[in-house]
Amino acid sequence: MASLASRAARPTMPFLRVRHNSSIRSLATRATTYTLNTGARIPALGFGTFQDADSQEETVSQALRKGMRLIDTARVYNVEEQVGRGIKKSGIPREDIFLGTKLWCNDYHPEDVERAVDDSLRDLNTPYVDLLLMHYPCTFKRGPDRFPRDADGRMIAGETSFIDTWKAMEEVVKTGKVKAIGVSNFSKGEIEVLLKESSTVPAVHQMEVHPYLQQKAFNSWLKSKGIHVVQFSPLGNMNDFYRQTGWSKEIAHMMRVIDQPLLKAIADKYGKTPVQVVLAWGINSGRSVIPKSVVDWQIDQNIEADFELQEEDMERVATLDAKARFNDPSLDYEWRLYSDLEGIDGTVRGRTH
Ligand SMILES: NC(=O)c1ccc[n+]([C@@H]2O[C@H](COP(=O)([O-])OP(=O)(O)OC[C@H]3O[C@@H](n4cnc5c(N)ncnc54)[C@H](OP(=O)(O)O)[C@@H]3O)[C@@H](O)[C@H]2O)c1
Repeated sequence: MASLASRAARPTMPFLRVRHNSSIRSLATRATTYTLNTGARIPALGFGTFQDADSQEETVSQALRKGMRLIDTARVYNVEEQVGRGIKKSGIPREDIFLGTKLWCNDYHPEDVERAVDDSLRDLNTPYVDLLLMHYPCTFKRGPDRFPRDADGRMIAGETSFIDTWKAMEEVVKTGKVKAIGVSNFSKGEIEVLLKESSTVPAVHQMEVHPYLQQKAFNSWLKSKGIHVVQFSPLGNMNDFYRQTGWSKEIAHMMRVIDQPLLKAIADKYGKTPVQVVLAWGINSGRSVIPKSVVDWQIDQNIEADFELQEEDMERVATLDAKARFNDPSLDYEWRLYSDLEGIDGTVRGRTH
């Protein structure tokens, strides 16, 4: 049976290694890639770098040596130097790695964009990134303060719009410092504005997708526009951040995927873990996933998560959709994010940082 992934975005799946285990089936760990609308290829399985800055040099290096080839970072994570050192330390040639970073909202003024890219390239110690994303659609006041607030603690908006930023990003592509551009945390309406007012279709939309927030209609629409989806927080509320941040929603306290009985049952069938099933579900849906981990055995597990899930098991995972969006700093950022998307109920005012 052809997997869903094999029908999406022309993936190729060279086999990394064959893993035999004593359970019901023998499984291969694939190395699926997809073709972006730029013609470049992006791996299905990647590595997130949000948090744990002190560990990132070593874990990025380890993840690359273990076989990961997609690294996701961001200016605002404050880890670009560590990521750059990890890439060097791994010994993996730069051209074999798909490296993406994100522009932060205080650098959205068109006159700041190329300088901000240069800052990222300097810290990452690389002449180019494969992907530059606009981290959020909201613009903050330009200047060195990443979270510029007024006397009442409320975020101060910038004077330009995300369209101005996007046009400046298009210009940076021409310099060769950035191979592709995309967005993150945009609503459908905001992407429609970009499609209407610019000549570049985003190569990627990086957004929250996991079994508890499946966003089926939005995912289909993005696919129809040739926009590849990279799932952030692919493990849902496994990240404690969502239970601890100032804008944490009640729903973030729901059962973690690792404890979910249905996922455990599916995992047992394949001799895998619930986390691996969740990642495989994303890949078999034609998307990339970027789990973060600083724990060696977890990274090992995550890299073995590219395997075919039978259609019946894809359908079982589909029943877990709870429209539960965990990443929603709308009220802190003074911008109604995801306004036309699922899972915006229960948004809470509170500070991110
Ligand atoms: N564009 C955006 O706005 C945005 C927002 C959020 C995230 N992201 C990106 O997406 C990446 C991933 O998202 P995320 O960090 O929020 O969440 P995640 O990858 O879904 O979950 C991370 C959590 O799961 C744990 N974990 C990882 N692999 C595991 C395994 N095999 N078994 C058990 N536990 C496991 C990690 O533990 P340890 O920490 O102990 O290793 C960590 O607590 C980020 O690092 C970042 O690159 C982007």
